[in-house]
Amino acid sequence: MNTTITVNTDLPAGKISRHIYGHFAEHLGRCIYEGIWVGEDSPIPNTRGIRNDVLEALRNLSIPVLRWPGGCFADEYHWKDGVGPREQRKRMVNTHWGGVVENNHFGTHEFFDLCELLGTEPYICGNVGSGSIQEMQEWVEYMTFDGESPMANWRKANGREKPWKLKYFGVGNENWGCGGNMRAEYYADEYRRYQTYVRNYGDNRLYKIAGGANTDDYHWTETLMQQAGPLMDGLSLHYYTVPGGFELKRPALGFDEAEWFETMQQALRMDELIARHSTVMDKYDPNKRVGLIVDEWGTWFRVEPGTNPGFLYQQNSLRDALVAGLHFHVFQRHCDRVHMANIAQTVNVLQAMILTEGVNMLLTPTYHVFEMFKVHQDAEALALHLETGEYRVGDETIPQVSVSASKRADGTIDISLCNVDPKGEAPVALRLRGLKDIPQVSGRVLAHADMSAHNTFEQPETVVPQPFDGVTDISLEGLSVTLAPMSITVLTLRF
Ligand code: AHR
Repeated sequence: MNTTITVNTDLPAGKISRHIYGHFAEHLGRCIYEGIWVGEDSPIPNTRGIRNDVLEALRNLSIPVLRWPGGCFADEYHWKDGVGPREQRKRMVNTHWGGVVENNHFGTHEFFDLCELLGTEPYICGNVGSGSIQEMQEWVEYMTFDGESPMANWRKANGREKPWKLKYFGVGNENWGCGGNMRAEYYADEYRRYQTYVRNYGDNRLYKIAGGANTDDYHWTETLMQQAGPLMDGLSLHYYTVPGGFELKRPALGFDEAEWFETMQQALRMDELIARHSTVMDKYDPNKRVGLIVDEWGTWFRVEPGTNPGFLYQQNSLRDALVAGLHFHVFQRHCDRVHMANIAQTVNVLQAMILTEGVNMLLTPTYHVFEMFKVHQDAEALALHLETGEYRVGDETIPQVSVSASKRADGTIDISLCNVDPKGEAPVALRLRGLKDIPQVSGRVLAHADMSAHNTFEQPETVVPQPFDGVTDISLEGLSVTLAPMSITVLTLRF
């Protein structure tokens, strides 16, 4: 069946928060250390310890928000160990991730420096699992209080006179698991208590995010909304695409079509999860004041052979790129509730944008999707209708094409399209309702003939966006497009 898409160019369907394109960087494996932080004395060119090549690549993504320091690490992190003269900072064991020494050289000041260099908003995740309320209260005071106080004075003594601006603050992480193994009822009470002391100092206004559910734990969402809904601005959700499941994780490369299919199918499950968690939230928050914050998502494969199993280092292929595209379409479809999403993780961990090896760096296919899709950030979603055929493997099917469309402030329209079928092209009739002028159409495509095509340090440009020449029959009514098998295409319509 050919695909028919009707985009209502005059029917706005809600603003796409740019924070949907957020990131997550944890003290895990080589994400922070090596991937971002190399230290001022490193032979790798750096700005105050942060590697320049990674900075430049990330700047090009216009990252709107960066979550730190974890993850599971957050609930073992004691922020006071990470401020003051670096050589005097406490060395601790990163028990959860590989049992390696954490020298605390990347701490609060370095994180805010990174955010300032990237022009990104910080999102700090506080420690509920093993930290005290006082510790959390003092961290907020240290970061945001402008005046005389023990923590503000300490910050100044450590070289930062003015407080930082901080909006996003997470009160714990995965408190049903590594963040304390709590029951929903218990965490709801803990959340109420901890968040009381997460204060707004001066004109700094915090957006408080409660630790949310794992995958389809709707009881968790129900309990949190019922017991603590009015005390939160956001509630998180974590869901990973893990073909084979966590016990039998599959390799990131060298997979067959069945694994390709399972991966796409799992990625698309995000739609159902968001819809159902949102429905629970609607019961307590019909006006959608509380944002759903999908602050961990992405693929989780077996680690690369020979690497530390606790470092979660995996390669990244065209398959990951499709997973990213499908997720963005889901998030954008639910932009009335999804305020933020953060891919796990930015560098060298899980579904990374960037891989590094010593002085070398490469951009993954996932990076290119973030770059191609950034046109959607803060744009107005457009209402659309999609009729597409099935992509079938065995008895199972998923829709072949997925799409999202948005309008920028200047009227430019961007339409992103994913074809998940690794063998079949997708001819698409794209109807454009409500146009007044015939558009100038340009496009870019990310595709490859090999399902597991990926970039390596030797061949870093195997999967990169190319100009798209599959558009024909442009008129006031619409246009025709032929999508390549397993491809991601972004069309831009200018007037
Ligand atoms: O992203 C890796 C880990 O996955 C995070 O630390 C944790 O929150 C989740 O289980």
